[in-house]
Amino acid sequence: MSKNLVERDIAVNWHPYTQMQTDLPPIPIVKGEGSWLIAQDGTRYLDAISSWWVNLHGHNNPYIMKKLREQTSKLDHVIFSGFTHPQAIELSENLLEILPKEHQKIFYSDNGSTAVEVGIKMAIQYHYNQKNNRGTLIALKNGYHGDTFGSMSSGGRGIFSTPFENHLFNVEHIDVPTFGNEEKSLKKLKDIISSKNVYGFIFEPLLQGAAGMVIYSPKVLSKMIKYCKENDVISISDEVSTGFGRTGKFFAADYLTCKPDIICMSKGLTGGVMALGATSTTDKIYNAFLSNNKSKMFLHGHSYTGNPLACSVAIASLKLLHRQETWTKIKMIRKSHIDFIRENKNNNQILDIRNIGVILAITIKSDSNESYFNYLRDNIYDYFIKRKIILRPLGNVIYVMPPYCISSDELQLIYFTILELLKSLES
Ligand SMILES: Cc1ncc(COP(=O)(O)O)c(C=O)c1O
Repeated sequence: MSKNLVERDIAVNWHPYTQMQTDLPPIPIVKGEGSWLIAQDGTRYLDAISSWWVNLHGHNNPYIMKKLREQTSKLDHVIFSGFTHPQAIELSENLLEILPKEHQKIFYSDNGSTAVEVGIKMAIQYHYNQKNNRGTLIALKNGYHGDTFGSMSSGGRGIFSTPFENHLFNVEHIDVPTFGNEEKSLKKLKDIISSKNVYGFIFEPLLQGAAGMVIYSPKVLSKMIKYCKENDVISISDEVSTGFGRTGKFFAADYLTCKPDIICMSKGLTGGVMALGATSTTDKIYNAFLSNNKSKMFLHGHSYTGNPLACSVAIASLKLLHRQETWTKIKMIRKSHIDFIRENKNNNQILDIRNIGVILAITIKSDSNESYFNYLRDNIYDYFIKRKIILRPLGNVIYVMPPYCISSDELQLIYFTILELLKSLES
């Protein structure tokens, strides 16, 4: 008898962030349709986390798929050094229209981690090219910037990085400027900049995702960026998860009065359809790489840099993002979350409940200090999977980050299932 998909998968595939010995076997998905993913056996799963925060307009969006098909008949790929193509040009033009006006250039890569690597390397070489060697990067504690070595080094130290600890470069981690910690965190940033040779400051703006959906204010971040600018410290804003409407505006940068020098993008950039990373920056930084001396060029590139198929999909996704009806949905999701918070903030099982834009996060009371490996995590994940909802808690933090096409009824189903879970935890 021929093997089924799960048996074949387990025989050959090694899945990310998965304990292959004990975790549930993977669910084979064969079709996507709006907010739903459909398994081989016909079971429909509601994708409440946008497939790791990437999907904006629903799975298999007909307009995006049409644009992708059109592009497949024109150009698959071309080396992006010495060559260009209409899709990369159009996408950069479109991105620069919605990015802070101080930004004038886009550098493409493949994913969120590489978009961050590019940002960090730009900041280092910006100073190096001006014979101004600076060695220190400031980052926020518990931050997450990806799994390559540069992005991991700049991320917080913890369970994700422990095995690699001795191989990471040194970074000065400062407290996240959450409510009540703003002045302390700003002061620490200033102290480090005054006492060390700092080249950059990297952060997830307003929302630390993987840390457990930790939210902080744009006011303090603007002050931090301003101080960096006054000291020629390059501010690198990792908008891999916050970009493209997630916070209720195009970018978290839209809430800031002082704009970062570098912005890293991925995930929602292609509406969650293809892998693409982009790092935007100012002419001031770009100009520091211009020279008659070849060694001053930006020494970085990836085989699939600016892939035309991925760019065409990103152009299509941005077109949808500009539609009024998309923003009406974003506002509907945000308002539903706010209503849910108002109605349930006194629930006995909830330690904290919060939202930013389309993201709702609930910290469930737990007697364990562990965050990501909290014992509740697996139980909660299994609970939702049994009820055909994809919610991957971060330890004892449940979050909802749906595609913008989600309906009000689908959202109510997610809320109802969360409340049922909370009730079950009482007993
Ligand atoms: C803020 C942030 N930066 C970077 C990354 C890494 O992106 P990727 O998984 O595409 O490498 C992530 C992924 O979750 C992220 O949330």
